[in-house]
Amino acid sequence: MENIKIYKGDIVFTKQTDYFECFKDGYIVVNNNKVYGTYSSLPEEFENLEIIDYSNNLIIPGFVDLHTHAPQFENRGLGLDKELIPWLETYTFIEESKFKDIDYARNVYSSFVEKLKENGTTRAVLFSSIHKEGTKILFDIVHSSGISAFIGKVNMDRNCPDYIKEDTYESLNDTIEIINEYANKYPLVKPIITPRFIPTCSDKMLISLGRIANEHNLKIQSHLSENQGEIDWVSELHPQIKGYANVYNSFGLLKPKNTIMAHCVYSDENEMNILKENGVFVAHCPASNTNLSSGIAPIKDMLNNNLNIGLGSDISAGHEISMTKVMVLAAQLSKIKWIYNNRNSSFLSTSEVFYLATKGGGQFFGKVGSFEKDYEFDALVIDDSNLSKLDLSLEERIQKFIYIGNHTNIKKIYVCGNEIK
Ligand code: GUN
Ligand code: FE
Repeated sequence: MENIKIYKGDIVFTKQTDYFECFKDGYIVVNNNKVYGTYSSLPEEFENLEIIDYSNNLIIPGFVDLHTHAPQFENRGLGLDKELIPWLETYTFIEESKFKDIDYARNVYSSFVEKLKENGTTRAVLFSSIHKEGTKILFDIVHSSGISAFIGKVNMDRNCPDYIKEDTYESLNDTIEIINEYANKYPLVKPIITPRFIPTCSDKMLISLGRIANEHNLKIQSHLSENQGEIDWVSELHPQIKGYANVYNSFGLLKPKNTIMAHCVYSDENEMNILKENGVFVAHCPASNTNLSSGIAPIKDMLNNNLNIGLGSDISAGHEISMTKVMVLAAQLSKIKWIYNNRNSSFLSTSEVFYLATKGGGQFFGKVGSFEKDYEFDALVIDDSNLSKLDLSLEERIQKFIYIGNHTNIKKIYVCGNEIK
């Protein structure tokens, strides 16, 4: 063992969905940026080593935002009385078109990434815009911030206004240029293939993106079954294919364990089976799904069915960048669904939404989102002393932080073993 660091504090994480692992005055031993072990008392072999002492603070895994749109940051809170398609046409495409201007891109992306970091999001999967240069700026800004991300230049070449519609070949060439430049440039910031969604991508585009993902060994992200009008549109565009997920699948875009599909609000049993067979990660975006009146995704059923699931802020259809706020919305929506479903089955618990925002989404990045052995050490040190005068257990303290804490409680942030400022 070469590069050992020992952290002491009140450690909380979720190995499984149904309960919090808690170590009061515990220790995390980190070796070469990975967790070597988590203990309630320090093993003898480490006794003479220096301890980084965060006693009385909570130490929890960093948060994972599995789906968000960087160029929509300035639009948070705008136009949310509309549903998906009118919202895209009235607000979103116009805002994204501004990222042709690299000064505007640099300005907005800097604020966006700063806010992600400030809120303890240590890993994020991002859409940029169609613009090559702006996307490159986003890679550089995320890398400088110290957080980890997958970043996708958006591809779209049909059914959208001319000012944001791409030429298919140019779009593919720009995508390949970014891959060649950034696939190995930064250790923690990587490209991801990003067709916006089926309605705005031609068959030629979708086939080519599937091939590029295979040839370059890349992950893929898009949107699926978010809104009923969108779903109807997809079946009109592809009448020969049954079911929205099958359209992606027919173009080679459900890459086993390497694809994220955001929303999945209307995924029925058939679609859930396709997602499960392909190990697709569902990015649950509760704020977005309520803001755009999309619906309530059947996340508890998907969790019971062992699908891969994480949480997404989905800025700016979602208004909240803080993953604790997104967790609360996920729990609340799940309870509303349960109430209106005659209280059948059950709803997402606090440990379940915490799991989704840490280990659930973290699995897309590898061993991320937990303090089990060999997990990359992403951590937040939380001073929760202002949140309660009660004498609380660790499980109660994490509940408090999730519901009533905010970014000011986050004192230190570690990504892959390194503290980021
Ligand atoms: N579907 C296609 N594009 C978008 C987008 O930007 N946001 C959301 N929420 N859904 C989409
Ligand atoms: Fe989205």
